[in-house]
Amino acid sequence: MNSSGSDQKAQTAVNFPRVALAALRCPLCETPFALADRALRCTSGHSYDVAKQGYVNLVGTAPGDSKEMVAARAEFLASGHFSPLASLVASEATRDLRRDGLVVDAGTGTGYYLSAVLSRAPAATGLGMDTSVFALRRAARAGIAAVVWDLWKRWPLATASADVLMTVFAPRNPAESFRVLRPGGMFIVVTPSASHLSELRQYVDLLGIEEDKLGRLDSSLRDFILARRHDCEIELTLSPEDAHRIIHMGPNAHHARALHLPGPVTVTAAFVVSVYRRAS
Ligand SMILES: C[S@@+](CC[C@H](N)C(=O)[O-])C[C@H]1O[C@@H](n2cnc3c(N)ncnc32)[C@H](O)[C@@H]1O
Ligand SMILES: [Zn+2]
Repeated sequence: MNSSGSDQKAQTAVNFPRVALAALRCPLCETPFALADRALRCTSGHSYDVAKQGYVNLVGTAPGDSKEMVAARAEFLASGHFSPLASLVASEATRDLRRDGLVVDAGTGTGYYLSAVLSRAPAATGLGMDTSVFALRRAARAGIAAVVWDLWKRWPLATASADVLMTVFAPRNPAESFRVLRPGGMFIVVTPSASHLSELRQYVDLLGIEEDKLGRLDSSLRDFILARRHDCEIELTLSPEDAHRIIHMGPNAHHARALHLPGPVTVTAAFVVSVYRRAS
C-alpha cells in the first residue's frame, strides 16, 4: 500500500488506495473516478458509494459465493492449510513486480492469496474483483481495494493498468485479462489438479475435474505465453470440521451431501500454478 500521509488518510476513510482509484474506470462511461464524500464519482457525474465495510459496488452483480460458503472458506484458509500455495503465488506475483505496482485479483474471494502477495510487497496495491459482497467485506478489511464486479462483463479498469493479474480458482475472462494487463505483465492462474482431494471421493460425491484442463487453459489463453508451471501438492490431515469446510467452500457446496467422517482424514490437495506473460 502507498504510505504517504494523505493516501493513508484516504485509505482509512474509504479503503481505496490512490493507485487502485487511478486504475478504475466508470462502467457506464469509462471515464476516471475521483473520491468524494465516501463515493467514487466519475468525470460525467456517475457516483458509486463506498460501503461502510470498505468495498465499492459498481453494480456488477451476479451470483457469487454465499455467506455460508465464504465463512467456510475463511475458516478453512485461516487454519493455514493452503499457506504453501499462498507462498508460491506470492513469490511468482512479486518476482518482477515494480515496488508500487498494481496487482489485480479477478475472483479474489476473501483476498487470501492477494493478501499473501501484499505481505511480500508492502508498497504494492491490491485490487480484487468478485461478485460476492460477503467475500469482499473480508477482502476490504485486509486493505484490498474491493470491487463488486461480474468478471464476464467488460472490467471497470483502464487498459494496461495492472502490473500483475491473478485468478485463483475463479472464472477467467481471457479478453479482459489481456486488455487490462500491461504488455509484458504476468498472469498467474491457479487451478485444481485432477487428483485434488481424491481421497475424499470415497466418502462424498465431489464434482469431477475436467480432462486435459491445462490444455484447455493454454488454448483459452492463446494471447499469453506460458512462462512457468508448478505442481503444488500439499498433504493435509483434516479434522472432520475442516473436511466439511474444504468441501463447502467451493462449487461442491451446491451439490455435496453431508460428510460423516469417523475422525481425521489424510488427503492431498493438488494444484497447478501456471504463470503466463502477456505478449507485448
Ligand atoms: C472458489 S472461490 C475462490 C476465491 C479466491 N480466489 C480464493 O481462492 O480464496 C471463486 C470466487 O469467484 C467468485 N465468482 C464466481 N463467479 C464470478 C463472476 N462471474 N464474477 C466475479 N466473481 C465471481 C465467487 O464469488 C468466489 O468468491
Ligand atoms: Zn460515468
